[in-house]
Amino acid sequence: MELKSSTINVLFVLIFACSSRILGAFSNGGESTVKQQNPVKRSDFPSGFLFGAATSAYQVEGAYSEDGKSLNNWDVFCHSKGCGENGENGDVADNHYYMFMNDIEMMHSLGLKAYRFSISWSRILPRGRFGEVNPLGIMFYNRIIDNLVLKGIEPFVTIHHGDFPQELEEKYGSWLDPQMQDDFVHFADTCFKSFGDRVKYWITINEPNLVTEMGYERGVYPPNHCSQPFGICLAGDSDVEPLFVMHNMLLAHGKTVKLYRETYQPKQSGLIGLVAHCFMYEPLTDSDSDHKAAERALIFNIGWSFDPPIFGDYPQEMRDYHGSDLPRFSPEEKDFMKNSIDFIGINHYSAIYAKDCTNSSCSETANRAIKGFVEITGERDGVLIGEPTSMPRFFVVPRGLEEIVNYVRDRYNNKPMFITENGYSSPKVQDIKVEEIVNDVKRIEFHQAYLASLAKAMGNGADVRGYFIWSLMDNYEWTQGYKVRFGLHYVDRVTFNRVPKLSARWYQDFIKNNSQVDLLGITTPKLVHKQAYLYDI
Ligand code: NOJ
Repeated sequence: MELKSSTINVLFVLIFACSSRILGAFSNGGESTVKQQNPVKRSDFPSGFLFGAATSAYQVEGAYSEDGKSLNNWDVFCHSKGCGENGENGDVADNHYYMFMNDIEMMHSLGLKAYRFSISWSRILPRGRFGEVNPLGIMFYNRIIDNLVLKGIEPFVTIHHGDFPQELEEKYGSWLDPQMQDDFVHFADTCFKSFGDRVKYWITINEPNLVTEMGYERGVYPPNHCSQPFGICLAGDSDVEPLFVMHNMLLAHGKTVKLYRETYQPKQSGLIGLVAHCFMYEPLTDSDSDHKAAERALIFNIGWSFDPPIFGDYPQEMRDYHGSDLPRFSPEEKDFMKNSIDFIGINHYSAIYAKDCTNSSCSETANRAIKGFVEITGERDGVLIGEPTSMPRFFVVPRGLEEIVNYVRDRYNNKPMFITENGYSSPKVQDIKVEEIVNDVKRIEFHQAYLASLAKAMGNGADVRGYFIWSLMDNYEWTQGYKVRFGLHYVDRVTFNRVPKLSARWYQDFIKNNSQVDLLGITTPKLVHKQAYLYDI
């Protein structure tokens, strides 16, 4: 059902009028939450802090075979297998390819300071390095970037977010083959050359640790590789392929940063980073072995992703468990890998319990090196770690953001960080009405609580430079389809009209430092230190 903007506005006024004291805070696994007088405010963060929202190409663009774009791995995977409920796919997605001007207007009216989006590899290089650049693809992103800059919104560009030309899969097996490193560098080079005069923040690869798990261990994302007991696939080896894929991704990252630093950074003065999927792991019990398991899970995710581009090699603990299965960097590779990020990108959605498998019994899939001999669970003694969402492993645990930021700060000597994604997907409800979807009080509570938690970490000195809500609008949630909604805006699946949710209005007010909504929260400490910025914007 379609809602008119005027109806929505009336709805907002009513809801806001009644919500000076909205209750119903997130229950935190039995931990009671505090109804607070002083919700987190914009002024609790430094003045140049980038408040933004994020999307990715396959999830919003659509136009999957228009203007010279070739088929990518997700197009082919979803066409052949059918993704999401009822075989949904990203063919049309949010029709952003044709509605980007409207979407930029929407961002502008929210007051966003930055927009994180990704470049569709097969739109600008339909045949990877084996063919020409597609000028229409370049034009599309130029128009986005130019219009963002015109509106004072910082373009925060992810070079690779899941999708690549299918030809690279068919020719040599994509990320399983070192040739993919050369293709990636060529792609990144094309981006720097075409857009680098205006883009000051680059992310090479989004969530390599999750892509390897979903595509090569569990086999639920393309290229659908796995082995038993993880699943039944036509090809794959769940115990070792993820290690090779990660290795190629990390080397692709390192080579790209070398190129950027040598050829572009001196003129273009941008920053470049890498983003990982960062769960916070908490011990399931107070036992020493569960504490060690939680630490191990962090190392097997955060350390796996960021130790090589910061320290130049994998964590020793991973070598201890994987032995010769873990690839090695040559001395020359170690050299360019080391210190190859300007900032750390944290995608954080949840905390989860970690249980040790070396001393107690676990499922067959957890009791192996690729999982660090750690089983994860959202439940302790029948109580969930936090309120569930529509994503199976995502629970609402606001303290997790402070904990993960502290962990990253301590492990990497307080390197600049961005929270590149944080968001809430409302539990799926059958036949839900649009009026209910846009009245997303829970999403506001979520962001308030997580921002308060972030402010706490920053109050203790963590160098965090920005926070991006996932997502600007409801979009295609990979194999979960369109019913999992993370957006600040509802998108009508027939007309593609965007309807601001209550959370959009809240974010707008928050960014203006004018939040009227007094919801749940944790007492927010005032920031003691204001952060310095590498770039004034
Ligand atoms: C992280 C991924 O980067 C994004 O593509 C996805 O939609 C969100 N997590 C939510 O699952």
